[in-house]
Amino acid sequence: MIILGVESSCDETGLALFHSEKGLLGHITSSQHSIHKEYGGVVPELASRDHVKKFIPILGKLLNTTNLNLEDISLISFTNGPGLLGPLLTGAAFSKSLAYSLNIQAIEVDHLEAHIMSPMMIDSTLKPPFISLLVSGGHTFLSKIDNVYNHELIGKSVDDAAGEVFDKVARSLGLAYPGGPEISKAASQTSKSSFKFPRPMIKSDDYNFSFSGLKTSVINTIKNINLDDKIVRDIAYDFENSVIDVLISKTLKAAKNFEIKNVVVSGGVSANKKLRKRFNEEGRDLNIFFPDIEFSTDNGAMIAYIGYLKCKNKLENNLEINPQTTSSFF
Ligand code: KG4
Ligand code: ZN
Repeated sequence: MIILGVESSCDETGLALFHSEKGLLGHITSSQHSIHKEYGGVVPELASRDHVKKFIPILGKLLNTTNLNLEDISLISFTNGPGLLGPLLTGAAFSKSLAYSLNIQAIEVDHLEAHIMSPMMIDSTLKPPFISLLVSGGHTFLSKIDNVYNHELIGKSVDDAAGEVFDKVARSLGLAYPGGPEISKAASQTSKSSFKFPRPMIKSDDYNFSFSGLKTSVINTIKNINLDDKIVRDIAYDFENSVIDVLISKTLKAAKNFEIKNVVVSGGVSANKKLRKRFNEEGRDLNIFFPDIEFSTDNGAMIAYIGYLKCKNKLENNLEINPQTTSSFF
């Protein structure tokens, strides 16, 4: 069977077609970064309007490139949260009306679950149990995934999410939105820094994170100096290292304490090259899994994949899929 995945929780319109036996057939992600750039963050109303404009043209292109027809689709899965309400509603309305017109089901998918499971879509060797670090613009969640249906949140950011702090610090440095790739680019142009920012909660006994103090420390530093290219590079370098130090330290501690060898790092921040490199180096006695870079940030493929997993579960366990239920992973 072929599943259409629809993602519209924030500023990416993502559509994908996933085949239950052949895997991912195709996917298209249309980013709205150029629309939101001048505001330094996502404007929900503009995001909703752009999703509405894009769904049908993207679906047409996707069907064309995969040589498929609308009638080949047997199920639609769409993101129902967490995310921005307006953008989510556009995806729900599009998915439910298309499903109604095709006389098929539309099911709801949790965006966090999709990020967490996304590496399994490509790498069939990855199976739970694993420790999951989900680092996106809205969430920093550390969890223990025992199997596809059983997961335990063991730690999270008590304030800002890691990606959010990348975006806010980038803005203070005069860098473009989204800030993660911009900070990463500036940081990669140096190998040392004249700044040393705090590593918040790195020694705390729990698995929680805190990034707002780090953000304030960077912003206060910026207020007191005249920025030039070298200073921007130096600040970006130590800021990026600070976030990475804390993320790696807590994740490896969880893997050690729970005696779990598989670690999955997903969500937009997992696209960060230095984060990937250092996880592979410092976690060399573990198996570290990342989604392909194109599936780190929001996309429809991970939503279609969860639709497939839910459907497989239904077939295997004879469960009812209820299109009305609000999915909540944790
Ligand atoms: O998963 P995602 O696309 O959307 C949410 O679910 O939030 O994550 C977006 C976040 C943004 O904050 C963005 O700055 C960050 O991921 N990001 C990065 C990188 N690429 C994207 N952060 C650090 N380094 C990157 N290379
Ligand atoms: Zn996301």
